[in-house]
Amino acid sequence: MGIESRVFNKELLSKITTAEEAARHIKDGMIIGTSGFTPCGYPKAVPLAVAERIKKGEKMRFSLLTGASVGVELDEAWAEVNAIAKRFPYQTGKTINKRINAGDTMFFDIHLSQMAQQLRYGFLGKMDVAIVEAVCILENGGIVASTSVGNSPTFLQQAEKVIIEVNTSQPMELVGMSDIFIPADPPARHPLPITDVNQRMGTIYMPCDPKKIVAIVPCDIGDKTRPLAPIDEQSKAMARHLIKFLEKQYGEVLPPLQSGVGNVANAVMAGLVESDYKNLKVWTEVIQDAMFDLIDAGKLSAVSGTSLSPSPEGLQRFYKNILKYRDKIILRPQEISNNAEIARRMGLIAMNTALEVDIYGNVNSTHTFGTTMVNGIGGSGDFSRNSGLVVFLTPAAAKKGAISRVVPHVTHTDHTEHEVHMIVTDQGVADLRGLDPKEKVPLIIENCAAPEYRPLLWDYFNRARKKVGGHTPMLLDEAFSWHVRFNETGTMKPEGAA
Ligand code: COA
Repeated sequence: MGIESRVFNKELLSKITTAEEAARHIKDGMIIGTSGFTPCGYPKAVPLAVAERIKKGEKMRFSLLTGASVGVELDEAWAEVNAIAKRFPYQTGKTINKRINAGDTMFFDIHLSQMAQQLRYGFLGKMDVAIVEAVCILENGGIVASTSVGNSPTFLQQAEKVIIEVNTSQPMELVGMSDIFIPADPPARHPLPITDVNQRMGTIYMPCDPKKIVAIVPCDIGDKTRPLAPIDEQSKAMARHLIKFLEKQYGEVLPPLQSGVGNVANAVMAGLVESDYKNLKVWTEVIQDAMFDLIDAGKLSAVSGTSLSPSPEGLQRFYKNILKYRDKIILRPQEISNNAEIARRMGLIAMNTALEVDIYGNVNSTHTFGTTMVNGIGGSGDFSRNSGLVVFLTPAAAKKGAISRVVPHVTHTDHTEHEVHMIVTDQGVADLRGLDPKEKVPLIIENCAAPEYRPLLWDYFNRARKKVGGHTPMLLDEAFSWHVRFNETGTMKPEGAA
């Protein structure tokens, strides 16, 4: 299908060209910004054409800036040809991840809400080209975002040249779902006029100077979203513990909910379908399958995010029922969806996932064994620093029990004991608010750690308390000994332990 019927600004029709022609604007050493936040709404045809040129022998490497992770046609295709010299602000993908951990790609792991402003300030260099997927281009030249907004409004504003991919696999019914607003930079910023999830303050399109548009490319490749695992018993247990706690803490009416990425976050939202809650509101970053379940169950009245991020089946379900879902969903730039001012004002319940936590409540969400990047901090820090209730969820153990996810000391700290309010594992809940570090320890060990690791954690803590004492007792020579033991023996359990 041609895209002429989706380019309402007739002067721009002359810019329609092929992906191969558009890719000629991309040169070695450029700073490139693209749409996309999770594998939704990212450009596909032009990145594939760029990768093709590199495969044919052209030497090109770029800085790639996006909203968050993107789909295989971009992150994976470019990482396979080693085209990404620097990547920010988030990634999920086997090849790009390998490149980062091998040192081929430098990765700037930044809070997602802060990136657009840092780009506008000039801290991240001058953006050469923005490649943005659109549903259509309006008569006034405004670009309508598809399944994510992310950082695209600022990229369109900051880039020297703009390439638009009009994706005909994205339904026109997406028009009207976005609310685009770029806040003025400090000190000129006013309070953001949002006090409720379903309020709007901007336009349905992303403004773009038509003179900067150098190419408009047709694309019909659909978003390649990631499958969600079936909800397992551990996730169900975490959801049960958390919901029970919320019922006790808040009663019938919950503040707006924020929920992180992945299977555990999806399971918690799915758990709410079975709960007695009605009229829930969600102010979050990504919109996953369970939100559609909640809408269908009549329990969710409004959802605000920056991206849809459903499974492949969830995406088809969304498209099929788009008129129903679009009434409840608003997509915003990530500096609004993850905004500190709004998170504080709304007193969000923030629910994100940890790789490991320690006995004092510090959380590692990004690096295994202190060294290897998993995905990145994403928006978890935006919400953990600013929400009304800050919850981190993690199964108590990994690798069939060989790794305790409750350890003496985390090997990388993303969220500190100063902002982590609660830890939830399949074992139970530790409410850490108002406690001295030494008061947190018994709750974390007894309520959250796997039973077989509890005596070992007590042993560490009791010896630390006796030997060094102080406000936060720590045995410097043992703090990472569990991780060392796993690397040497394949388990965190000492020899002879059950
Ligand atoms: N030490 C070593 N390896 C560990 C580990 C630990 N403490 N905990 C988990 N792992 C391994 C798992 O075994 C798994 O490996 P495998 O794939 O080889 O089996 C891998 O690390 C991922 O663990 P898993 O529990 O499946 O992770 P997840 O899919 O639930 O994701 C995070 C957890 C923390 C990586 C993910 O939530 C994330 O990226 N968070 C940061 C960003 C964020 O929160 N964004 C949302 C904000 S809105």
